[in-house]
Parts: sequence; structure tokens; C-alpha cells
Amino acid sequence: MTEQFNQQQPGLTAGAVFYLFGATGDLAKRKLFPALFSLYKEGKLAEDFAVVGLARRPRTNEQFRSDLYESISEFCRYKPTDSELWNRFAQHFVYMSLDIHNPDGFRELNKLSGELDAKFGIPGNRLFYLALAPELFGPVSFNLREGGLLESKGWHRLVIEKPFGYDLPSAQLLNEQLSQVFREEEIYRIDHYLGKEMVQNIEVIRFANAFFEPLWNNKHIANVQITLSETVGVEDRGGYYDKSGALRDMGQNHMLQMLTMIAMEPPSRQHPEDIRDEKVKVLRSLRQFASSDDVRKNVIRGQYAEGSLRGKALPGYRQEDSVNPESTTETYFAAKVFVDNFRWAGVPFYIRTGKRLPVKTTEVVIEFKNAPDHVLFSRKSSLSPNLLVIRVNPMEGIYIKINAKRPGSDSEIQPVAMEFCQSCQIGINTPEAYETLIHDAVQGDSTYFTRWDEVAHAWTFVDKIAAAWRETSSDLQLYPAGSWGPKKSDTLLGEDGFFWWPVNGQDEDNVVWVTNSGK
Ligand code: BG6
Repeated sequence: MTEQFNQQQPGLTAGAVFYLFGATGDLAKRKLFPALFSLYKEGKLAEDFAVVGLARRPRTNEQFRSDLYESISEFCRYKPTDSELWNRFAQHFVYMSLDIHNPDGFRELNKLSGELDAKFGIPGNRLFYLALAPELFGPVSFNLREGGLLESKGWHRLVIEKPFGYDLPSAQLLNEQLSQVFREEEIYRIDHYLGKEMVQNIEVIRFANAFFEPLWNNKHIANVQITLSETVGVEDRGGYYDKSGALRDMGQNHMLQMLTMIAMEPPSRQHPEDIRDEKVKVLRSLRQFASSDDVRKNVIRGQYAEGSLRGKALPGYRQEDSVNPESTTETYFAAKVFVDNFRWAGVPFYIRTGKRLPVKTTEVVIEFKNAPDHVLFSRKSSLSPNLLVIRVNPMEGIYIKINAKRPGSDSEIQPVAMEFCQSCQIGINTPEAYETLIHDAVQGDSTYFTRWDEVAHAWTFVDKIAAAWRETSSDLQLYPAGSWGPKKSDTLLGEDGFFWWPVNGQDEDNVVWVTNSGK
């Protein structure tokens, strides 16, 4: 048996035992198992690995593998149709029921790890993936040490999911606990948006294109708009979400991370720490809100009320399961923020996210300043600004809006679009964010994971907003489910002479753009 799995294939990942805490949970089912199967199928995971599923509930290895099969059949971009491949993959998975507060269980786990090392030819590398509530990160880490799991001769890495704390003090406490057991470079904090193909592409689009790079500053960019809109409500996560809200659930992490990718300076080396240093500089340059009034003026919050989407009646947030019927938690926020450094001085970044909005999309719009108002242009039509739109999901691609002469007219100008749709290209089946991130964690590449100082700066920024909101909820606006959120978020841009550009899938009303395909 041992020989069969013992061959290291050149160029593939170094072998490790993955410990999946929370193996019976939703994240494992929807994202982690499918990601592991895709990596295996694509040859990015050699035979020298094992996965130990860990949860309190008793389960046999057979039951665990059957859960695995169902999850992959339903959620993976590859289906487990090749039975020989499937059987080979599945035998890398074992299950152990574990009480995470009992160190004896961890000693047993350590014994099992030695057996798996021998069986699959694993050189003692350990990847601990905690798909658990954050209050369990500390106890699990201590027991990993107690149980001897950190004594093996290979590397040891801890992968943790958000939320990393609830505010700066709670995040600091969590970090202190973790750092008693793991070094910062061993901690991989997941922000799954950083694993998205088009988020990683932002750097390339910016720095590898001669017609964007020189314009990427306040001399040429009028504003930046980041939209993360969702059609879903809180589903069955009311208990968690009601304590979190959109600001902590999406703002502190995904939105600020995307903003840093757009605003950061080019790193001097392609090294994880250099890239993360540049991102931290952006977070440090975020203009802090000066007072509660400043927050209320620049940050709009809303909560969805009853409404409808595509003809389907939808309940309001307060009617959702496990949500306080008098809740003042925001399910939407929009903010105007500034990055006070030399490159971005004076350029507003408008960010918004919300649940129960009309379309699911993540998009970044870079709106350029207009060309001079010259008589040549103003004779027949006014110029529309150039836009660069980065579509992150579900559609992936970039879209550029430029001005051109309307054919057959006497110098009449119209906006036209050039589009690259990555997700429409046959043969491009982009990896899911979790595939990329698990692969990076195994390789020891922490570029697309958040470092502690990034987390801390992001909390400092968000805590100011949360503190102002705690004083009064009078600014919370209700919006009908299926609408674009509170009207006041339009005013946020309107008072600066801008508006939210329609996102993909939004009814573009009277915005007439001609695309190269004539649509
Ligand atoms: C998660 C949030 O981090 O991101 C969820 O907790 C949200 O509330 C999800 O729905 C959105 O992720 P994606 O990849 O579907 O845009």
C-alpha cells in the first residue's frame, strides 16, 4: 500500500495531512471538498496527501466518503464520473470524531497522523483548516500543541476563516491566542475574494498595460466605484448575520481588500510580504471619519423590508429566521471613502454592498476624467466619461467604454464599448477561489491571505463607523427587497456630480452603449 502512494511527482504539491475542522459543515460541503477534488483532478495534488475530517458527530469513513461524493457531485465544477479516479481520491479521506476541548482526542489524532504519513509517504507537513466559529480558534490551537501535532518534522500551517473578530479588541485577543502557538507566517487568514481570478487580475490589468498604468492616479481618474450586490437574503445564517451586518460581513474584509488591490503601489518585488506591505500602506492611508456626523454624512446604511424579486414575494429582514424582529442590523451600506496619499488625493472611492438587491454581481468601475471640453466635441454632443469596468463575478471580464464618432453623422459622438468576457470563452473554466487559496496555502504562498496588520487596520476603520451607528439607529433606511437600496446612496454620488454606473444585468434604462457585437 505504502509504495503505491509514495511517489512524489515532480512539480506537484508537497504532501501534507489536511485536518479539516468543521468537516460536517456547509463550507466543507459547498467549497472545500469540491476544491480538493478539482485540484486532484487537475494534477495539482499528488498522491502524497491525506484529509482527516473532524467534527463532534460520529461518522464512519464510509459515511464520510459518501458525504464527500454527494458534495462533489452537487457543487464541484468536475463531476466524479471516472470511478477509478474517484476511488483513488476517496481513499485519502478519513474521519475522526473529536471533542475539540479534550486534549486526549488530539493525542489520538497525532497517532493517526503518523499512520497517514507512513501510508501516503507524507513528510510530516500539517495543514490545519479551521472551518469553525472564531471563539474555537484559540482552544483548537492550544490542543494541537498539547496533542503533539506540532512536533512533526515538516511545516505546520493554520488556515482560518473569517470573521477574524468582531472589532479591533476582539481581533487582538484572538491574535494573541493564536500567536502563542503559531508564528505569523504560519497563519493563513482566508478572504475568499482574494482567491477570485478577476481580483487577482486587477494587478495585471493595472501594471501590465501601458494605457492604464500611467493614468492610474488622481490626475486622470475621477472616481472609483466598487459594488458587491447580492440577490440572496440572510438564508439560514440569521443568527450570525444579525450580530455582524453588512459592514462586518463584507465591508471589513472583501470590500477593503478589493479597494487595496486597486489603490496599492506596485510592489518592488513579487514577494508576498512586499505585496502585503503595499496593501497595508493603503489601509493606513484611509481617511478616518472625523466624527459621528461625518459617518452619517458619508456612510449610508439600509435594511431590506418586504418586497419582490422577479415576481417572487420576499419577506423583510426582520421576518427572517433567527433575526431579532426589531433588529437594526444593516443589510446594505454604501460609503464614500478617500485614500489620503499622493496618488489618490481627492479621488472618491464609492463602495456599496447589500443583500436582496436586484442582481448578483461584483464589479469595479474606474471612471476617468473627461478630455478637455473642446469646441470640436461640444458641437453636437457632450462627452461621456471613459470607463474601465472590471467584472469579478459571476461574469468575469473587463469592459472599456470609449467615445467614437457615430457612423454617418457629422462628428456626433457616442459611447461605445469594448468587452473581454473571460467567463464566455470556451475552454476557460476558471478555478474557484477556494481551489486557488488551498493550493497557495499548501505551496506556502501567503500573497492572497490577509496579514495581521491588514486585519487590524481594517478593523480600526470599520470600528469608527460601527461606533457612530451604535449612538442612534435613526439613519437606518428601509429598502424594499429587490430594489437598489436606500435612495440616499444615490445622493452620496449625486452631490459630487457622479452617479452609480449600471452594473452588469442591471436595467440600463436610457444609457445607450453600443458594443462591438452591436448589442
Ligand atoms: C461571505 C459572506 O464572506 O461572502 C456572505 O459571509 C456572502 O454573506 C458571501 O454572501 C459572498 O461571496 P460570493 O463569493 O458569493 O460573492
